[in-house]
Amino acid sequence: DKGGHKHFMAKEIAEQPSVIGDALRHYLSDDGRDVVLPGADLDFTQFDRMIMVACGTAYYACLTAKYWFEQLAGMPVEVDIASEFRYREPPIPARTGALFVSQSGETADTLAAMRYCEGRADKVLSVVNVPESSIARESDIALPILAGTEIGVASTKAFTCQLTVLLLLALKAAHDRGTRSPEELADTLSNLRGLPATINHALELDPAFKTAARQLAEADNALFLGRGLMYPLALEGALKLKEISYIHAEAYASGELKHGPIALIDKTMPVVVMAPCDALFDKTVSNMQEVMARGGKVMLITDRAGAEAANDGVWTQITLPDVDPILSPILYALPAQLLAYHTAVAKGTDADQPRNLAKSVTVE
Ligand code: M6R
Repeated sequence: DKGGHKHFMAKEIAEQPSVIGDALRHYLSDDGRDVVLPGADLDFTQFDRMIMVACGTAYYACLTAKYWFEQLAGMPVEVDIASEFRYREPPIPARTGALFVSQSGETADTLAAMRYCEGRADKVLSVVNVPESSIARESDIALPILAGTEIGVASTKAFTCQLTVLLLLALKAAHDRGTRSPEELADTLSNLRGLPATINHALELDPAFKTAARQLAEADNALFLGRGLMYPLALEGALKLKEISYIHAEAYASGELKHGPIALIDKTMPVVVMAPCDALFDKTVSNMQEVMARGGKVMLITDRAGAEAANDGVWTQITLPDVDPILSPILYALPAQLLAYHTAVAKGTDADQPRNLAKSVTVE
């Protein structure tokens, strides 16, 4: 049942405020001031470092989590693609927590990487959508993301629920390790509780994404740029676009532009820049100017302050609601999803069942 939507993907994008709300209710104490992990005995002081392993979109959720764990909890995090990790025989030092992220819980490479860590890592954690899946059953601690069934091959609500649970874990790590004061943590958690409402506001921008997507649909190639927490989101935006609209899209950390990809820029190359007005905004603006100076077409996804500071010369701009910078990846997942979705619709490709892809990759 598509619930009145044209595609499951559209329905699942629209469900995000409610499923993120479900995840928050599950993992927050009644007063909303603490992270609780029902049924799980986990204290991040037992680890000195984390490794996080996954495939595809779930891998980008891990990349985002690296920024969160390092910034909030001062914990080193190594992130790896499951198909690389499993054959590399990576050494696992003592006091390492290993975390695996998978919507289906059945991805062959992720499962094999997890089995490699059993008996080597101090604890094997999983962040999964399907609680009865192999990855959930075989891990020491399985943390459900509570996104509900996801049918669209392109992961949407599972991604934002993965991010929500990973951020809650990073906040718990910050609490356990004493790297953030109880007041700071309560503040972030209170902003997080307001996030479903903010996402609802962002969903109202759907017509703007539709218009922008019609322009994107004309392109054969696109580049996505982001810095810091927006870098994994740029990767996710490029993956979503190529997956369902078949437009060739690449993502780079904005600072890498000068190290190669700028050679691709001309007037046929749309460059999607994901950049809320955060501490790194000025640097991203200079990257954007470099693109525009070479005739590149910039599609800027930003917030109100960003729009005021830097809309000169941009091709298209979409202004998202303001959000606590630490939560920005969850909100900026929406433009990644909506741009890809409407581009696929404009091109007439199948957004729910793209060619050559399976929802669950159970063979390597
Ligand atoms: O079920 P999983 O989360 O383990 O799946 C991982 C990837 O196959 C998956 O995220 C894939 O990249 C999506 N189709 C992306 O939209």
